[in-house]
Amino acid sequence: MILEALNYAATWPLTSAGHRRFIRSSVNLWARANRCRAAWAEHERQTKAAILKAAEGCRQRRTAVVLGSGLLRDVPVIELSRLFDTVVLVDLVHLASVRGWIALRGLKNVRLIERDVSGLDAMLAGEPLEPLAFLRQVPYLDFVTSANLLSQISIGASRRISGMERQAVPNDLLTALVRAHLEGMAQVAAQTVLVTDISYTVLDGSGAAHETEDLMHGVDLGSPSSQWDWPVIPFGEESRDYQIVHRVVVR
Ligand SMILES: C[S@@+](CC[C@H](N)C(=O)[O-])C[C@H]1O[C@@H](n2cnc3c(N)ncnc32)[C@H](O)[C@@H]1O
Repeated sequence: MILEALNYAATWPLTSAGHRRFIRSSVNLWARANRCRAAWAEHERQTKAAILKAAEGCRQRRTAVVLGSGLLRDVPVIELSRLFDTVVLVDLVHLASVRGWIALRGLKNVRLIERDVSGLDAMLAGEPLEPLAFLRQVPYLDFVTSANLLSQISIGASRRISGMERQAVPNDLLTALVRAHLEGMAQVAAQTVLVTDISYTVLDGSGAAHETEDLMHGVDLGSPSSQWDWPVIPFGEESRDYQIVHRVVVR
């Protein structure tokens, strides 16, 4: 609790006013990731391996962008920093603990950008939905990875629209946001790799499935190059009676 409060307080002055509302959920993620370290380790290892494999396939290695860099738990940032001239980490917020970790390791070619890459504001304003158009302005872009971010875009958006009038929210908004991210990644003129959880299942102690939810809101990602299970909420985290396991794919 004390460490969380310290991380929150230290992040506050380092974060722009418009993004401070995201600090709390990032600190909560940090605390949960620490508690679930053992259960998440294999997922983090597989995500890092998928990102690194794609990055090593780049002929030119000038600028790499990581979307949803978060806590850098599943991003092989040290390796990317060695491979590329510049590594740009994009997230709603960059915690003080993450900034300190980067500084301690002397990763001098790593840049941090606070940005909402959902496109939700544009969509609610009736503007064209091109959430990743900003990548066209990144000089010498050779690699982009979306690192366990996509499902969070619609989760964040559904939280934001939950208090809004129905008429103010376009139909199929969440589906459109998922599609826009995939289209944005497909249009990048560089090597890309997307890692995302696409669904979750609530399982009891006998392994029986009680509830499954599609986190892609009906959008089909096609055949993954690899996939695995991520026990996001292992037994004992919320209850001893069930765990919540997410399906993760690489594309
Ligand atoms: C499950 S975490 C990803 C973990 C991260 N790759 C890591 O290695 O720790 C999802 C991340 O996406 C970020 N995120 C969620 N919605 C976002 C948005 N609309 N724009 C940018 N980042 C977002 C969150 O802040 C969080 O850091």
